[in-house]
Amino acid sequence: MSPVEPSQEFAGLVAVVTGGGAGIGLAVVEELVARGAHVAALDVDPSGAPEGVLAVPCDVRDRASVDAAIATVVSELGQLDVVVNNAGISAVGTVEDLSDDDWSRVLDVNVVGIARVSAAAMPYLRRSDAAAIVNTCSIAALVGLPQRTLYAASKGAVLALTFAMATDHVGEGIRVNCVAPGTVHTGFVDRMLATFPDPVKEKAAMDARQAIGRMVTPEEVAYAVAYLASPRAGSTTGTSLEVDGGATHL
Ligand code: NAI
Repeated sequence: MSPVEPSQEFAGLVAVVTGGGAGIGLAVVEELVARGAHVAALDVDPSGAPEGVLAVPCDVRDRASVDAAIATVVSELGQLDVVVNNAGISAVGTVEDLSDDDWSRVLDVNVVGIARVSAAAMPYLRRSDAAAIVNTCSIAALVGLPQRTLYAASKGAVLALTFAMATDHVGEGIRVNCVAPGTVHTGFVDRMLATFPDPVKEKAAMDARQAIGRMVTPEEVAYAVAYLASPRAGSTTGTSLEVDGGATHL
C-alpha cells in the first residue's frame, strides 16, 4: 500500500461512535474526525459531541431508538463504514452485592447494546469496502479485578462476542475487533471512585494497577481504536488490543 497521510486515512468514510458524547467515545470521535471521517456520535446525551459531528440521541438499550439512529446517520451522511461500539456503564461489587436488576441493566447496555447497534448497521456495512466494527472491552475481561464481578462478566461477553462476530462476518469483508483499556480517567471512573469509602486510596490503587504508574488517557485508547477501524488494518480481525499501561501482562 502506498503511504497514506494519517489525515486522509478515513476520507470518504462514515463512522458511528456510541457513547460519543463523553470520555473515551468523545476522544474517538475527535480522532476519527482528525483523520478525515464523517462522524456521528450516538449517545443518550450527545450534547458533548464537538461541532461538525452529527449528534444523534440514541439509547443502546432500546432497539427502536438504535434502528432510528442508524437510519438517521445513513440518511444524513449517505453511508456507514465504521461502527465503534463504545457505550458502556460500570458496576462495582461482589456477587453478593449485586441485584438481578443490576445484572440486567449492565448486560443490557454493555453486551446487548453492541448486538443491537451492530445488527442495525450490518446491511450498510456489507455495502462498504472499508467495513469495520470496534467494540470497547476492558482488561476486566482478562484479569481478576476486585469488586468487578458484573462489569468483568459483561466485558468477558464483549470479548467473546467480538470473536464470534468476526467469524460470522469475515466472509463479507467486515472486520470486527475490540480494544481492551486499562483504567482510563473519565467521568466513568470519577463516578465509580465516589462509591468507595476512601476514593483517594482507591484512585491510588487505580493508578498503580497500570505498570506505567498512571491511568490511561482517553486519547491513547482513541488512537488504538482508530488503528483497528482503519482501512490500513485490513488483516486485523478477531483481535483484542490491550491499551493498559502493562496492567495485564507486566
Ligand atoms: P463515560 O461514562 O465517560 O462515557 C460513556 C458515554 O456513554 C456517555 O456519554 C454516556 O452518556 C453514554 N452512554 C451510557 N449509556 C448509554 C446508552 N444506554 N446508550 C447510549 N449511550 C450511553 O465512560 P468511558 O470511561 O468513556 O467508557 C466508555 C467505554 O469504555 C465503556 O464501554 C467502558 O466500559 C469502557 N472502559 C472504560 C474504562 C475506564 O476506566 N474509563 C476502562 C475500560 C473500558
